[in-house]
Amino acid sequence: MPTSASALPTLPSIPAGALRLQGNGTDRLLRCRVLQSPLAGVSDGIFRSLVRRWAPDALLFTEMVNATALELGHGGAKMAALEQDPGPVGVQLFDHRPVAMAEAARRAEGAGAWLIDINMGCPVRKIARKGGGSGLLRQPELALRIVEAVAGAVTIPVTVKTRLGWCATSADPVGFALALQNAGARGLTLHGRTREQGFSGRADWPAIGRVKAALHIPVIANGDITGPEDALRCLAITGADGVMVGRGSLGRPWLVGRIAAGLEGRPLPPEPEGRARIALAAEHLQALVAARGDQGLLIARKHLGWTCQGFAGAARLRQALMRAPSLEAALELLRRAAAELPDGPPDPGTDGAGLSPPGPCPADPCCR
Ligand SMILES: Cc1cc2nc3c(=O)[nH]c(=O)nc-3n(C[C@H](O)[C@H](O)[C@H](O)COP(=O)(O)O)c2cc1C
Repeated sequence: MPTSASALPTLPSIPAGALRLQGNGTDRLLRCRVLQSPLAGVSDGIFRSLVRRWAPDALLFTEMVNATALELGHGGAKMAALEQDPGPVGVQLFDHRPVAMAEAARRAEGAGAWLIDINMGCPVRKIARKGGGSGLLRQPELALRIVEAVAGAVTIPVTVKTRLGWCATSADPVGFALALQNAGARGLTLHGRTREQGFSGRADWPAIGRVKAALHIPVIANGDITGPEDALRCLAITGADGVMVGRGSLGRPWLVGRIAAGLEGRPLPPEPEGRARIALAAEHLQALVAARGDQGLLIARKHLGWTCQGFAGAARLRQALMRAPSLEAALELLRRAAAELPDGPPDPGTDGAGLSPPGPCPADPCCR
């Protein structure tokens, strides 16, 4: 847990009070203006439990869930045990079939979803070609039918996460956003890039600001926010109601909480260093292996690579971890790396050695 603190030079200027998201019978009040983005292959229950440690009130998201796969009996584990999370968790759905999306939304609401988010931005070719994710940017009428079907199926708020458009020439972000709002979307997260851009270039925050100015539902700005200063600048430029953080949080589950503290004028929790990062990596690894067995070790590699950065010997450690054949071997590498760090005050939140021996893990049924 964060213990000591530093301060941001500028004071925040975020909209005051909680954000109301209107539902069809069940409204939601969002107390934190910083959201953790849905991240396929990353934002499982274990990752979310780490983010939650620093961000108790933030809205987090499941990995995206395919509605047709759910119908066929797959993907249900991604939205299991939502009610066990002490804070709000939205379920993100994607598909091109309104009926399947409505049914999946009903199921997600039954599983404890805080809200339903519809993915209209995923650039993955296989998904977009079938008409899901960003594919819906090319079929706006179908996109609106999906919003109507989902909004009519649940009592909780339905939001959409999308991009500025398919490509620069065809994009009409304001027109599309207004149509989504009219169809029943009760919030919009906008990534300031087109589908054609993928992740290249810079997110266009002024374009997000033009959409925000045209809508009456809450708008969350997304793209290239990696710290409190970015978030403040983004909010100043866009006038958005909040920000969503994606890639910046890979290997940095404290980021959402740190940005939230900055925006709210609270002292910033320190960025964990050396031993604390190693301890966090070990905890994440143990939890994944406890929940997923050998597959957990493979899944953990990317998290280990992202978390083990920025301390002496980190590059060598990452290389060795990628080849570690077992949980025990990986933990031994981490233990040795922590012991080899130059002496200094122990990082906050660790036992000084930075690693506790393997013990019971916070295995999360979401990941089974
Ligand atoms: C590994 C990875 C997985 C992602 N998975 C999803 C997803 O499941 N659903 C979604 O809407 N966006 C997904 N995104 C996009 C992010 O949520 C976010 O919109 C994008 O990365 C831009 O924000 P950023 O600049 O803060 O990363 C993913 C991005 C990455 C890098």
